[in-house]
Formats: sequence, structure tokens, C-alpha cells
Amino acid sequence: MPFGSGRRSCPGVSFALQVLHLAFSRLLHAFNLATPSDQPVDMTERPVIHYLSSRPRTAKSRVSNTRAAPERDGAWPIIGHLPLLGGSQLPHITLGAMADKYGPIFTIRLGVQRALVVSNWEIAKELYTSCDVVISSRPKFRAAKHLGYNYAMFGFCPHGPYLRELRKITSMELLSSRRLELLKRVRVSETEICIKELHKVWSEKKNYSGYLLVEMKQWFGDLTLNVILRMIAGKRYFGATVAGNEAEARRCQKVMRAFLHYLGLFLVSDMIPFLGWLDNLIAGGGDTTTVMLIWALSLLLNNRHALKRTQDELDAHIGKDRQVNDSDINNLVYLQAVVKETLRLYPAAPLSGPREFAEDCTVGGFHVRKGTRLIMNLGKLQRDPKLWSNPADFRPERFLTTHKDVDVKGQHFELIPFGAGRRLCPGINFGLQMLHLVLATLLHSFQLSTPVDAPVNMTESAGLTNVKATPLEVLLAPRLSPNLY
Ligand code: HEM
Repeated sequence: MPFGSGRRSCPGVSFALQVLHLAFSRLLHAFNLATPSDQPVDMTERPVIHYLSSRPRTAKSRVSNTRAAPERDGAWPIIGHLPLLGGSQLPHITLGAMADKYGPIFTIRLGVQRALVVSNWEIAKELYTSCDVVISSRPKFRAAKHLGYNYAMFGFCPHGPYLRELRKITSMELLSSRRLELLKRVRVSETEICIKELHKVWSEKKNYSGYLLVEMKQWFGDLTLNVILRMIAGKRYFGATVAGNEAEARRCQKVMRAFLHYLGLFLVSDMIPFLGWLDNLIAGGGDTTTVMLIWALSLLLNNRHALKRTQDELDAHIGKDRQVNDSDINNLVYLQAVVKETLRLYPAAPLSGPREFAEDCTVGGFHVRKGTRLIMNLGKLQRDPKLWSNPADFRPERFLTTHKDVDVKGQHFELIPFGAGRRLCPGINFGLQMLHLVLATLLHSFQLSTPVDAPVNMTESAGLTNVKATPLEVLLAPRLSPNLY
């Protein structure tokens, strides 16, 4: 039934057969035909759906003379390149490998959505400067509509007056330098309480060699969430001094993690029709900061010379007769370099925040259509061998020498772990303060190592944030005199 059958069979059947017969008989009658060197003709078929799902090529020339960015081959009908992103390899690694083949700007299809994948700093700079307004909207995720109060949540809302107002309120009332200075006591006292609690557990449960085995992912998670909740809601959730229900608190923490995990996955059900991304101040801020603390400590444990150098610096500036406080951080230049190098190698959101082109735009000489998603592959961009020698190595020293003027605040496009432009992370100052303070206090207070001195497993997990896949088990013992805990 090449023409179908029944009520909806092809009405052009007679005409088509006449044309086919006539054209073939004329052609074969008039010419002798052969193939070059008598090769058999390649009979590979092209999926019909492919034509249905892509727009006619002429549409491009109507709106612009520039060409479209190259599309990665191997798209499946309907689901596009989703199968390539759903395997065991993490999406930023897979997309990074594609960039090696297709260049720093190319497109893929995520179900019915087209996405532009960017992997180098020059194009990032062009996007976050000349095209910033055009890329300042988030995709309209269905999840954001239903779970995010009809796009009212900070991380989801479209670009416009509402976003401007939200950013203004947050940056003036909650995360401004003045407010962070006023709330300094919360950060410092919460960190002190957590260190004291850790010391107490150590004194009760240490092993025969004087060490306590601790799972640090949970410890970092409880600490950051306590600080954020105390700042926003005036309440701490975890720990010995908490009157509330710990089971409820754990459930709340688990839900927030699951939230970010599922929304960052390239799931077919999300992509057709929509991927989701959720963020609010508590979930987004707590998770990202925790993830970064875990990676920083893991990297230090795998690079013991850097761990020693950080502790030497702490001893030189603070001594062993008092605890670290906030005002010490400015003097801890090696610790600052450790934090930058961690943000470079393991940015908390390796594909940054999802964006969408609100208008047609020209980027890197290519035409990009309105509605295209933007995927900024930080995992690739921040390991560009043209800019970073031995890019996969953990070398904080580079930020004291070759890259000493590079910061993470969205002005140096080779290092943008907090994003850049109008939708730059509003929690950047608070996040950095927490990273420095918690790491400094922990490393100053305790001697740290791993069971049988084994290297830390650095496997990342999929999701919007790349939380370490396995627990971070650490052996610790106090470094300071007991009266300081
Ligand atoms: C060290 C930890 C952190 C990292 C690495 C980080 C990273 C990011 C990134 C990459 C984005 C997307 C930016 C873009 O689209 O270009 C973002 C957005 C955001 N972050 Fe952070 N962040 C951190 C900490 C925080 C904290 C502590 C808070 C709040 C207390 C916070 C609140 C937000 C919010 C609300 C957005 C959405 C902004 C918008 O859509 O306009 N983040 N963050």
C-alpha cells in the first residue's frame, strides 16, 4: 500500500503513477546510464521525520544571511540527540567530546528543542555582553509553571520587570555586602557550633589511633543549610542544639537534592516537550555551596602538598591559639587560590544555568533562531588547554602566578562558575564567603586524611549540580588545644 488505503489514501495516486511511468520511460529511452566505476548506488534512506522536525532551510535565508551553527550528526527522529546524553557518561563530558569534533559552537536537538552548545570563552563573552538581553530568559519549563508558582520563582522567571524587581530586593535586602556583613555572626557562629559538635563526637567515638571517621557530604550539607535557613527563616535545622524534628529536616534536605538532581537530567520525558530547572534561594544556594565544599576537600585530600600548604598558611596567619574568623579570609591567598581552582575544575553547575534565545541572534558568525536553548559547557570551557596549562590538574598556584588577576565574578570569561551577565548568580558573595570560612575553619581545626590513605573517588553524578557520586569519608583529629573547641 505505497499510497495508503481507505478514506485517507493518497488522492494523487493516478497522477503520480503517470509521472513516474512517463519520466522513467523517457529517461531510459533517451540515455544510456551507468554509475562512476560501476559502483552500486548507496541505498541508505534518510528518516522522514527528520524533515518534518526541522524547519525548511529557506526560513534561515529570509531572516539572516549568516549560516546556522553546525548540527551534530546522529540525531534520531523525534528524540534528536537525547540518546547520546542519556548514557553512563555525564552530559558535560559527552558535550565536551562533541566540541572536540564539531568545534566550540554547534547545535544539538533535545527532543523537539534545538540547543546551542558553547564551549569557549570568546563566544561566551560575545553572548554575555552583546547578546545578554536576548539570552536572559530561562526556558519555559512545565515544572516551573506547576512547581514554581507559575514562573514566580527566582531561578525560573522570564527576563523582564518582575526579574529586575526580584534581583533588586535580593541584592539589597538579603545578599548585599552590607547585609552579609550584618549577618556575619550567623555564618561564624554556625560554623563554630558545627566544629564544636564535630569535636564532641570525636572525643566520644575516636578510634584507638585518635581519629574519627566522618562522612563529610552530610556535615557540609547540614552546615550550609543551617546558615541559609538561619539567614532567611531565622531557624537552624540540624545538630545537637536543635529542638525540632531531625527526621523532618532530613526529608526536607532530601527533597531539595532530588529536586535539583531530576531537573538537571537530560530525560526524554523532560525534553519532550520540556526540561525543567528549579532554583530558589534555599535549594539553589545550599546545594551549590555544599557541592563546592565537597569538591574542594576532595581535591585537597588527593593533593596532600596543597592541603599542607593551606594549613601552613592558616598557622602562619592565625596561629594555634584562636579559631579562624571572617576577617582572616583576605589574608589567606593560597586558600583563595584553592577555592578558585576548585570552581574551575568542578563548577557546581557544569552546564551553567539554562537560558533561551528570546530573539533571533548572530553569535560567532552563526545565526541562532529565537527559541533555541543555550547550553554553556563550563566543564569544557574552564579546562581549555589554550588558556590553562595541564588543564585537568589541580594547581591552585596558577592563581598566584599566571592567572593571578582572574576572578570568578563574571568578568573573566575563561572562569565563570557563577555564570555572567544579567542572570549572574546573585549569591556569589555569600557563596564565596561560606566556601572560604568553612574550609579555613575545618582545615585549621582538624588534621584530615582518608581511610588507608586511599585517593578520593572523584566521580560526579548527573543533575543540575554535579554532586560527588560517592560518600566522602574522612579521618579527622583535632589540631588545636581542647579549650578552643
Ligand atoms: C558557591 C556556590 C554557588 C555557585 C557555584 C553558583 C552558581 C550559579 C550559577 C552557574 C547560576 C546560573 C547563572 C546563569 O544563568 O548564568 C546561578 C544562579 C542562581 N544562584 Fe547561584 N551559585 C552558588 C551559590 C548561590 C547562593 C549561596 C545563592 C543564594 C543564597 C544562590 C542563588 C542563586 C539564584 C537565585 C540564581 C538564579 C538567578 C537568576 O535566575 O537570575 N547561588 N548560581
